[in-house]
Amino acid sequence: MENLCVLLFPFLLLALLLHGPGSVTALRNRDGSEEWGYVQVRPKAHMFWWLYTSPHRVEHPSKPWPIILWLQGGPGASGVGIGNFQEIGPLDTNLKPRNSTWLQKADLLFVDNPVGTGYSFVENNDSKLLAKTDEEAAIDLTTLLIHIFNRNQKLQKSPLFIVAESYGGKYAVTLALSALKAIEDGKLKLNLGGVALGDSWISPEDFVFSWGPLLKDVSRLDDNGLQKSNNLAQKIRKQIGNGQFVEATRSWSKLESVISSSSNNVDFYNFLQDAGSDSATTSAMEGVGLHREIALTRYSNYLTSMRSSSGGGGGDLKTLLNGVIKRKLKIIPENVTWREQSREVFRHLQADFMKPRINEVDKLLAKGVNVTVYNGQVDLICATKGAEAWVKKLKWKGLQSFMRKDRTAMYCENDRKTKGFVKSYKNLHFYWILGAGHFVPTDEPCVALKMVGQITQSPAPS
Ligand SMILES: *[C@@H]1O[C@H](CO)[C@@H](O)[C@H](O)[C@H]1NC(C)=O
Ligand SMILES: *[C@@H]1O[C@H](CO)[C@@H](O)[C@H](O)[C@H]1NC(C)=O
Ligand SMILES: *[C@@H]1O[C@H](CO)[C@@H](O)[C@H](O)[C@H]1NC(C)=O
Ligand SMILES: *[C@@H]1O[C@H](CO)[C@@H](O)[C@H](O)[C@H]1NC(C)=O
Repeated sequence: MENLCVLLFPFLLLALLLHGPGSVTALRNRDGSEEWGYVQVRPKAHMFWWLYTSPHRVEHPSKPWPIILWLQGGPGASGVGIGNFQEIGPLDTNLKPRNSTWLQKADLLFVDNPVGTGYSFVENNDSKLLAKTDEEAAIDLTTLLIHIFNRNQKLQKSPLFIVAESYGGKYAVTLALSALKAIEDGKLKLNLGGVALGDSWISPEDFVFSWGPLLKDVSRLDDNGLQKSNNLAQKIRKQIGNGQFVEATRSWSKLESVISSSSNNVDFYNFLQDAGSDSATTSAMEGVGLHREIALTRYSNYLTSMRSSSGGGGGDLKTLLNGVIKRKLKIIPENVTWREQSREVFRHLQADFMKPRINEVDKLLAKGVNVTVYNGQVDLICATKGAEAWVKKLKWKGLQSFMRKDRTAMYCENDRKTKGFVKSYKNLHFYWILGAGHFVPTDEPCVALKMVGQITQSPAPS
């Protein structure tokens, strides 16, 4: 196998490693700035990763160069596709350089997580192998980190920041705890720098209770809509309290569709806008009761429909990832078709989807890990109002001091317009990003880049 690959791709191949069980298959580009591969995280379950080494690396005596692990949401949405090409990677979907890439501040590691997402796959499409809980996903991710970090001493010197978006926040906190355990047990050689939760689904109950009042305050719902929304939120609270998590997931998708119809189709990722160009299809699907199908894939379709409606043209992610990128990477099996989001992966997590992860945040804070929460001002699905509500539920002993502190305003370059606010106390940090919806790095690239430099204490010039 090794020889065959060397024969086929001598110009590209610098590393191909195959170890027995838990095998690693990896390739590198010519100058070593990119590396990617599969790790078999469990028998027949293969997770794809892609590491970019920054060309902007700065050596600093007291500030090590950081590395960011980006965790996409969905669940089941591809970080290798969406996070990389539509949000923070070096190239956009037209393969043009992105001037706001987070590579300016750190190395970047993308993964398709959990298995079944994007290029990651389970053999014979055996859905029994898909993760059913955030913890199962976190264990797979820990196995991935063991394979990537333990063999790379240079990487071990870089503090790892787990930066998540949306549902990815739930994996991020479970992964951080699982990785810390593996570090303590001597199984993982890694220096955890911190966790950043971008518009993250940490407490579903707090988010569903934020939707009605927020939309009422900005005239997008009237009292009738507010009441319908709150009634369903109450039902969800009861179901969560009774441990009826699958039922709570069903009520959540019902609530999304009630809000859509009462608000004439507000956009869940930016409440100042109407939902994207596929709204005709959406209403047709709603007409036949397919609320869940709509709710499931809204997340992964958002950035694509935003681009097409703004006339950006070109750059279709599916064509890109199944075409030129798949050819470049060489190691993606022919019968693995890249999709923006896997419904199967989401469906397997439906009993975990509505479970809160506030306790996990508390555990990280108690261990002294830096935890950052950042939120876009006009996000609805993970609204700032809901994020502030779950933060107030923390049992962390620094909370009262955190609440009392004043915020610092943020600006970008020479622009004197307020772009955000930040507040920190000990190891809890909160960024309010003005003007951004759910997809903060795409909506407000300049201030997002500045923020990520601060979160990672990057030695890169600001
Ligand atoms: C990036 O490009 C945008 C649009 O072309 C421009 O407005 C912005 O100033 C650029 N930012 C940087 C950091 O060069
Ligand atoms: C692709 O096909 C091979 C051979 O037929 C099979 O072993 C493998 O499981 C398939 N992969 C997936 C993801 O279904
Ligand atoms: C894998 O299985 C799911 C459902 O079990 C199905 O929807 C999907 O099309 C299958 N994919 C392939 C490549 O066979
Ligand atoms: C947490 O972040 C602050 C900067 O915001 C830094 O001074 C501190 O050393 C970090 N703590 C840990 C444990 O990494």
